[in-house]
Amino acid sequence: MAIDAKNPVPPTLPRYAGMDQVPAHVPPELVKQTGLPYGPEFTADPYKFFAELHHRMPPIYYDVGPFGNAWQAIKHEDALFILRHPEIFTNEGATPFPRDHSDYYYFLPIEIDPPHHRKYRNIVDPFVSPKAVLELSDLIRKRANDLIDGFVDKGGTEFAVAFGRPLPVSVFLDIMGLPQDMRDTFVEWAMDLLHSTAPGMMDAAFRKIQDYIRSAIADKKANPDDKLVSRIAHAAPDGEPLSDKEVFGFVVFLFIAGLDTVFAAMNNMWLWLAQNPERRQEIIDRPQDIDRVVEELLRSWSVTFSGRVLAQDYEFKGVQMKKGDRITCILPACNLDPDVFPNPTEVSFDRPRQTVLAFTVGPHSCMGAHLARLEIKIGLQEWLKRIPDFALIPDTKVEYKPGGVVGPESVPLVW
Ligand code: HEM
Repeated sequence: MAIDAKNPVPPTLPRYAGMDQVPAHVPPELVKQTGLPYGPEFTADPYKFFAELHHRMPPIYYDVGPFGNAWQAIKHEDALFILRHPEIFTNEGATPFPRDHSDYYYFLPIEIDPPHHRKYRNIVDPFVSPKAVLELSDLIRKRANDLIDGFVDKGGTEFAVAFGRPLPVSVFLDIMGLPQDMRDTFVEWAMDLLHSTAPGMMDAAFRKIQDYIRSAIADKKANPDDKLVSRIAHAAPDGEPLSDKEVFGFVVFLFIAGLDTVFAAMNNMWLWLAQNPERRQEIIDRPQDIDRVVEELLRSWSVTFSGRVLAQDYEFKGVQMKKGDRITCILPACNLDPDVFPNPTEVSFDRPRQTVLAFTVGPHSCMGAHLARLEIKIGLQEWLKRIPDFALIPDTKVEYKPGGVVGPESVPLVW
């Protein structure tokens, strides 16, 4: 039965973690401990790790770890099937962030299956449609250049802090109608929420986000504007206003989804650009191919995953799964599937067109995809125009934090 977002009920689904909580129906030969996304092998070089999964693991296996046990799918064609069949692989109860059971709410639209989730997407669509996003081009270009003005003459900068983070986060805050002077605080909260392995820190960050959003919604209710938080707070799909819990779960989820994904992707991309001067030149020399470039970079460095829950017992690719099992499509690995992308770790702007899974597919495909693509495209164009030559500071040790959004913590550059 479809869940009712106006009357949220805490999930009763079990969350298994660790070797002693492997369900009996899981064949022992499929039980693995890959260390994704927290082990030292993963944090040392996540994209090598994702590529090697295809050689080390069967297409579907049951990954066991301290933060949760789940089936994992790493083949491109399996992910396409899973993500396009919400009647078998549901989003209900699939997100990893725990909420207070005495005051439960759903994350919208991610925790609602079709067709009901459409009414929530309709509220946001006008802000993130290709046309709406294109109208932001001048603003994004100006922001990019204002940021570059601040460091272009300095001979170097910390990319993550000076460009990768402020460019997308400031545009996101504009769309949401949230204050720019909270930018770094928001990023800090999002980082603690998404990358902390200490439960206390994650809980504290989540509490701060929720408290802030509660007060932002109250403010927008009293002082409406034409930005996204206000539109959600005043939305009345089918003539019926959203409940307080719907508004809250919607804004909290947008905050989690939109804040650090683009910047993680850009950090990965600029790290590679800094280490590959001839490929930078190729991008500069092929301005007409910039959209292909962006798509290939997104394929090579997808930053996040799609978690689902089995809505029924189901045998998938010869593997018997049970209702309530969790399954994660490892999108960065699916985009490095050698059966679909030959020589997957080679960045090639001339690949035949294939579905890139960076933003997932199916009913829950990323609502920010057009915006993210445009920010990356304009970021590349403006940066390479003004700083065509740059490198990583010698002897930099690139470090990745554990977590559900994959990107290097720091990208220190010189030119
Ligand atoms: C490079 C940047 C980004 C990447 C790689 C990315 C990736 C994803 C992925 C993989 C999903 C599906 C999650 C799932 O299947 O469980 C998703 C969903 C979503 N993303 Fe993004 N995202 C990015 C940027 C953004 C931005 C900037 C926004 C906000 C403006 C955003 C808003 C959303 C929303 C609302 C959903 C849920 C859609 C639904 O449930 O119907 N994303 N994103």
